[in-house]
Amino acid sequence: RQLVIPRKATDPPTVFHWLPIIGSAIQYGNDPLNFFFECQKKYGDVFTFILLGRRVTVALGPKGNNFILGGKSTVFNAEDAYTHLTTPIFGKDVVYDVPNDVFMEQKKFVKVGLSTDNLRAYVGMIEDEIEEFLKNDPSFRTYQMNDINEWGTFDVVQVIQEITILTASRTLQGKEVRENLNKSFAEYYNDLDNGFTPINFLFPNLPLPSYRRRDAAHVKMSNFYVDIIKKRRTGHDDHEPDMIAALMQQKYRNGRLLNDEEIAHIMIALLMAGQHTSSATGSWALLHLAANPKVAEALYQEQIKYFTGPDGKMRPLTHEELRTLPILDSVIRETLRMHPPIHSIMRYVRDDVPIPATLSAPSKDGIYIVPKGNYVLASPAVSQSDPTVWKDAEKWDPYRWNDSEGVAAQAFKMYLDENGEKIDYGFGAVSKGTESPYQPFGAGKHRCIGEQFAYLQLGTLISTVVRAMEMRIDRVPDHNYHTMITMPKAPRNISYRRRNFD
Ligand code: HEM
Repeated sequence: RQLVIPRKATDPPTVFHWLPIIGSAIQYGNDPLNFFFECQKKYGDVFTFILLGRRVTVALGPKGNNFILGGKSTVFNAEDAYTHLTTPIFGKDVVYDVPNDVFMEQKKFVKVGLSTDNLRAYVGMIEDEIEEFLKNDPSFRTYQMNDINEWGTFDVVQVIQEITILTASRTLQGKEVRENLNKSFAEYYNDLDNGFTPINFLFPNLPLPSYRRRDAAHVKMSNFYVDIIKKRRTGHDDHEPDMIAALMQQKYRNGRLLNDEEIAHIMIALLMAGQHTSSATGSWALLHLAANPKVAEALYQEQIKYFTGPDGKMRPLTHEELRTLPILDSVIRETLRMHPPIHSIMRYVRDDVPIPATLSAPSKDGIYIVPKGNYVLASPAVSQSDPTVWKDAEKWDPYRWNDSEGVAAQAFKMYLDENGEKIDYGFGAVSKGTESPYQPFGAGKHRCIGEQFAYLQLGTLISTVVRAMEMRIDRVPDHNYHTMITMPKAPRNISYRRRNFD
């Protein structure tokens, strides 16, 4: 967008770099959190670094997160930051391809498809899918042999990615997607997914085969959904209460129903938004449980306590119960604290924005200003792992969430309160933003709407796996920051052994 911006006295400090255009791309790309912590020591909570010709102003800490995520979309703009990455994948007229107020209406439509009734119906379906997977997938051969003394291994990322797409398609995406998962759909999905990388973010148009495959896959995927919608419109198709069904009934404020392409493109957006975020979190959770057998055992005992029926067998979970299980809930919260899937949240700066003195001390020439044409970047991951906020920040300790007076519980309450305090922009209330040091689902207008669904998917996954097997791993792998979503580095093989409860 902008290659040269003159350095002004009111600009926040610029991170030192040797290479003019490349700037700090290598340090940031290899380990963004370490880079941010190092810069914070030298420059404070607000600084600008050069990322391949872009000037990116980072604001750290809960105040920095709130400054950016609670900022107005007219000045800190998400469309301008992301559309070149997402529109070729999702398609026209949705998400960042439309003005923010239209996208906010679309988010409201999606919420209808995520109603409590729908979520309630999904738990059993998710459980079924996971149990079927364990019974049939070659990764679980030892499990299938029904020998409780034999240990096997599975690549946690590979397995959880498959389970995530199976469960999301059985529920949100609908039965037509589920039926096609092992066919053409998987191929389109992979080609789209290969277009969702940091390279695509940094270089919107490269003459590479992967870009061409991405574009071709978008057309096919969009047609695939449009065909489903057209068939459903004839009224001859039976289906569960899924997202497509909900979207087909939604109208914009001007009374217009969503058209087939818009529904198709929203469905692709949801597929991409939920797949890696949930599968990364599920993988990290199982890795930590495998490395901490005592916590896994406590979790298993919790399942036995809550779900053993009068016949001595474990009964299925319900949506309502999932959030009331203290150990399970803490395991998910703690995993999201240490491994929020999105390490950098960006906006494009459409107008000069003064930085509040509470966030960064004024320069000798007066206040600092984030200049128009920069990007801003929030990283809740930094405040979530800040050792000055969290005791033993680098330790995965689910029990920190159980102390009702502790930092974690307070941070969680502040984060929840955000849902209570809403601003009405005229098209429905959205959350105001928050200064909690815990924000794994973002904050403000762009806050995640998939949170409840993700909790459901993760809670059911973790419960079902813990009921089925014991797991072990010597050490939890490091973060791989070279993908858009922070993943565990390979190797990430978990050893497992079947339990004998059935
Ligand atoms: C937005 C995290 C799962 C749909 C976000 C944002 C974060 C996030 C941090 C804010 C992005 C920004 O401000 O630019 C997560 C995590 C997940 C998860 C940690 C799972 C553990 C899902 C799922 C769905 C979903 C399952 C769909 C069913 C969305 C949507 C947005 C969003 C539509 C709004 C983007 C915007 O307004 O710009 N998510 N997400 N997410 N997420 Fe999620």
